[in-house]
Amino acid sequence: MGSSQIEPDAKIDSVHLNVCNIDQSLQFYESFLGFKIVKKTSSSVFLSPDGKPPYLIALTETMTKNTSAKNAGLYHFAILLPQRKDLANFLSHLLQHGDKVRIDGFSDHLVSEAIYIRDPNDIGMEIYCDREKSTWEWEDGKVRMTLDPLDIEGLQNDATQLWDEFPVGTTIGHVHLHVSDLANAKFFYSEILGFKNTASMKGALFFAAGDYHHHIATNIWLGTDILPANSHLPGLDYFTIKISHDYMLDLIKKLNEHNVYFTKLEDNSISVFDQDKISVHLIS
Ligand SMILES: [Fe+2]
Repeated sequence: MGSSQIEPDAKIDSVHLNVCNIDQSLQFYESFLGFKIVKKTSSSVFLSPDGKPPYLIALTETMTKNTSAKNAGLYHFAILLPQRKDLANFLSHLLQHGDKVRIDGFSDHLVSEAIYIRDPNDIGMEIYCDREKSTWEWEDGKVRMTLDPLDIEGLQNDATQLWDEFPVGTTIGHVHLHVSDLANAKFFYSEILGFKNTASMKGALFFAAGDYHHHIATNIWLGTDILPANSHLPGLDYFTIKISHDYMLDLIKKLNEHNVYFTKLEDNSISVFDQDKISVHLIS
């Protein structure tokens, strides 16, 4: 049984989201948040901090409407800012224009400071910055993360300039998923994909490559009887993980050993579903 770990510099590359109306979403992602368009096709828009590749977010228009059913899928995707002052600038922007966005909350996770908002399709987003790695507390391979209130006033005082765009160096730091079963999630993200389980909290598991706190989190907070993910609904279509060519070969071997179905795509990537039908693309 393969148990090789994903390489330490593997990371989330991009999130592909379905939205009901591209123009409405661009009002938010481009005009309010400050993302720039890298390219546009008839049905999709690709966004990055400076309008140059690589893109971080792809938006595709979907005709499918949300229902009241609970599906596996995205809890939030998380945009990682390079420096604390960037988060401070973003916070000031948010508080000045609070009428244009739904704010879900603010948290201090010890390893990071985070702001939670929602896009026009109710897609959960976290905007965050990490604290210095040297301050993270590790014990037996697990990192300590808290759910403390954010020092909003202290952060605001660190603002240096008006926000008009994401700084270069902004990445997708992690994705946090609603799943139906944590053991299945652990099997897929840890045993198969090779991420380490770095933390647990009530109803949630966290996974990372290298010495990061988490690139992927999974929770059962919607319940264990939720429907599989539906990649046509507004929300997550799929997310991509960047890996090396060598690890891709290891991974394909593991997928075959475990009879996990995957599809080879034309651009050196593969598409695979977790046990809740959440679609993950691995790119080398
Ligand atoms: Fe998160």
